[in-house]
Amino acid sequence: METLRLVLLFVHILGFAALLGGLLVQLRSEPKVVNSLMRDGSGTAFLAGLLLVGVLESLGSPDHAKIGVKFAVGLVILVLVMVNMRKPSIPQGLYFGLLTLTVANIAVAVFWSPTHA
Ligand code: HEM
Repeated sequence: METLRLVLLFVHILGFAALLGGLLVQLRSEPKVVNSLMRDGSGTAFLAGLLLVGVLESLGSPDHAKIGVKFAVGLVILVLVMVNMRKPSIPQGLYFGLLTLTVANIAVAVFWSPTHA
């Protein structure tokens, strides 16, 4: 099960790295769009994240509050990406919103340490 967790975490990290890369590559270019890196990355990160929750549940009791926040942020990112992926351009506000949510989920994952009894 530990090997499965590590493989899913590997895929999870590749997923949101693609999402972040798809955002950062167009930081100084116009128009802003939802590109294939953002589409495939957000989908991969979300699916691997859900599967990771399942593995962590079987390995013990994960921090449900932390996972709840990550799930909610991940879902908002996924929906915004999927709704806007066929548009010729997206507003600056949406672009920086997606970038902020992605960086926020990385921060939650890294800095939200489990509460010690
Ligand atoms: C864009 C969205 C996301 C980003 C940027 C992100 C980022 C990260 C990062 C950086 C880690 C590694 C943290 C560490 O090992 O200390 C991680 C792990 C994890 N993520 Fe995400 N995540 C995202 C979405 C999700 C979603 C939607 C879920 C589930 C509902 C999720 C569930 C998890 C779980 C359970 C782990 C822990 C894995 C483990 O320790 O075995 N993530 N995520």
